[in-house]
Amino acid sequence: MERGHANGGTGSAADFIPPNASLTALRKAAATCRGCHLYKNATQTVFGEGPRHARVMFVGEQPGDAEDKAGHPFVGASGKLLDRAMEAAGLERDDAYVTNAVKHFKWAKDATGKRRIHKSPNRGEVRACVPWLEAEIARVQPEIIVALGATAGKALIGPSFSVTKQRGIEQKTAWAPSLVATIHPSAVLRAPRPIREREERAFIADLAKVARLLAHGKRERTHRRSDKLLPWSATEAPSLTSSAQTRSSRR
Ligand code: URA
Ligand code: SF4
Repeated sequence: MERGHANGGTGSAADFIPPNASLTALRKAAATCRGCHLYKNATQTVFGEGPRHARVMFVGEQPGDAEDKAGHPFVGASGKLLDRAMEAAGLERDDAYVTNAVKHFKWAKDATGKRRIHKSPNRGEVRACVPWLEAEIARVQPEIIVALGATAGKALIGPSFSVTKQRGIEQKTAWAPSLVATIHPSAVLRAPRPIREREERAFIADLAKVARLLAHGKRERTHRRSDKLLPWSATEAPSLTSSAQTRSSRR
């Protein structure tokens, strides 16, 4: 029997999260999540990966085509760019926990019916999936969270989040002692030729800021269970009305 609203569940991933589970047990449980409809058209759940007590956690939007097939986050074109930028900024990918706001690939067929085109998750889908992210954060307790792009920013900070206004600025949240947002690597890849290099440099500069914050010394890992503070717990769910919702692009 499917769990969900009709049966008194939350209609979200929360119905599938075993209490007090380890990261490994969470990953296993996420593989059979039916917290929203996105599992139906995707190959598999793509859960976060990285050291259990990573000091820094990167949060993207959702797996893309390559991640959906491979079962690992950020292994496609965006992931390659992220790897390069992290290296240029002095961050080790192997030291970071890398995950996404939404764990299943949302897509639609292109006009030829041959290619799967990325569709940004809507606010209901982010809301349904965010309990996994919260569980990951609670286990890893990163000192710094890096939100990659608008979907991650809105999921973590709330509907008023703006990448252009808040990128590269250290913010305090209930999730972790520090949060730094930047653009999504796919936005760098999509940038028109003349500004592409500049966008990549700016992306690296934001990550270099994260590297500096980490080098400045350890932050106390203070993740609180913050059900009342999360943007998604508000009675009125925030709306993800940015162009990210309607934009369809390859990630
Ligand atoms: N884009 C994302 O947001 N996440 C991935 O894992 C890959 C591409
Ligand atoms: Fe569960 Fe998230 Fe997948 Fe929806 S997208 S089925 S909430 S793991």
